[in-house]
Amino acid sequence: MDRLPVLVIGSGISGLTTALTLAEAGQPVVIAAKTPWSESNSGLAQGGVAAALSPGDHPRLHAEDTLRVTRGLADPTRVDILTSQAASAVQPFIQSRVLALGPDGAPKFSQEAGHQRARIVHARDGLTGRALMGHLIRKAQSYSSIHWLDGKVVGLAAENHQAEGAYYRSPAGDLDYLAATAVVLASGGMAGLYATSSNPDSTSGDGLILAYLAGATLADLEFVQFHPTVLATKGPGRRLLLTEALRGLGAHLLNAAGERILKGHPDQELAPRDVVAQAVFSQQPVYLSMQHLPSDDVYRRFSGLVQQLSECGWDLARDHIPVTAGAHFSMGGVVTDSVGRTDVARLFAVGEVAMVGVHGANRLASNSLLEGLVYGKRAAQAILTDHARLTPRKPLARPAMTVRPEYWTVPSRLPSLLDQHLGVIRDQDGLQRLEQALQGMQACHATLLIQMMVSSAMARQESRGAHMRRDYPEASAQFAGHFYHQQDHGRIFRPISQPSAISPLPIP
Ligand code: SIN
Repeated sequence: MDRLPVLVIGSGISGLTTALTLAEAGQPVVIAAKTPWSESNSGLAQGGVAAALSPGDHPRLHAEDTLRVTRGLADPTRVDILTSQAASAVQPFIQSRVLALGPDGAPKFSQEAGHQRARIVHARDGLTGRALMGHLIRKAQSYSSIHWLDGKVVGLAAENHQAEGAYYRSPAGDLDYLAATAVVLASGGMAGLYATSSNPDSTSGDGLILAYLAGATLADLEFVQFHPTVLATKGPGRRLLLTEALRGLGAHLLNAAGERILKGHPDQELAPRDVVAQAVFSQQPVYLSMQHLPSDDVYRRFSGLVQQLSECGWDLARDHIPVTAGAHFSMGGVVTDSVGRTDVARLFAVGEVAMVGVHGANRLASNSLLEGLVYGKRAAQAILTDHARLTPRKPLARPAMTVRPEYWTVPSRLPSLLDQHLGVIRDQDGLQRLEQALQGMQACHATLLIQMMVSSAMARQESRGAHMRRDYPEASAQFAGHFYHQQDHGRIFRPISQPSAISPLPIP
């Protein structure tokens, strides 16, 4: 490699989109992924991609739905970018028939919670993340300028607020260093830290910590989205997700007496995700039922999930399937501008690890793969533009730094404590208990991240979207804004009325 590569940390949909856009422009790229792509959150995603493509739909309507559901904390400009660039982002997958098409050759659209109309496109078997990822991985493998790094990134080198490269641990356990012309975090969120989660354990907030320790700003950490319907199983490990598209087709959520738990809500089972998750959580046990729907439709539309459920002993079309709410998505993350730049020069963030401002307090269903596609590409384009202005750099000598491997180990007590005290419904007492428990644990990266989450969750004395406080059940105008965390300044609140409320500029 003559030129220094761009290092992309993470191989989900956003990382691959960034890497491919760079590679197509001739920029060498190194992708570092700590798990195989099929185990990444994108690879596991069943949800589709939202795009205003159906007759009568419009990006403006998609933006309206996004802004309504995100409870006042999404940035309208960033949302407009997302919804207006959605069509061009999904078009390649429609053309290559990765997404399901009807007999007329047009995409098939389904309905999901919070959307006023059917605008979600899926893969044929419903396992959309796997289909998109398979397509992108095959493409990435065809580029000789994309290299795969075998190892886990354990630290960023950021001198004078400028990213220079990263330290990584090889499979043999050696600490190595890679110099890079820019570093892109695409490592996903932190929902895998919870005991009850749709995410794999590997989704443990690594990118948030790497960015924070390098001097970048984090925000909105208290907003963790809980998916209302993960399979209610016991024991450790990821819970199987029962996609919202099931409710889009008409699935019911029933209590133990067989009554629909959301019959009082105007949108019933298609109420926004925060509302449904809170209902499912507080009315346990809850069951998802499709018994009243034609079973052929269910088997055909969701063949991937039907297979996965049958391996656990459930028949999707005939059984009442026990479901619970599980941690699913981090709305907060590393604060970026509209092209993924953070406040550390040459450090970018894309996808779930980033807080670009499109998810607010409650992400709209099927906006996350879309975010990866749209903002992953924009970041690559910005890197290519920035490069034209940057003077070529020689690889730096490996900076001295020790990276302590034990800091990356998640304390075994933490996941269930998160479920208990930083879960679907929080209160001051529980948050204080969690804070005390953290003080009693060996300090590590996960405890540092959770401390920041607890601090924001305590300070946000209101209920808004996914942040539900038992002791402050209403939203309050006083908290219409974002809590930021920065190494040099601690926790800071900025109201949305302040210009550039979502901005990567250093906080004064
Ligand atoms: C789902 O299919 O229910 C998940 C989709 C999403 O998280 O957007």
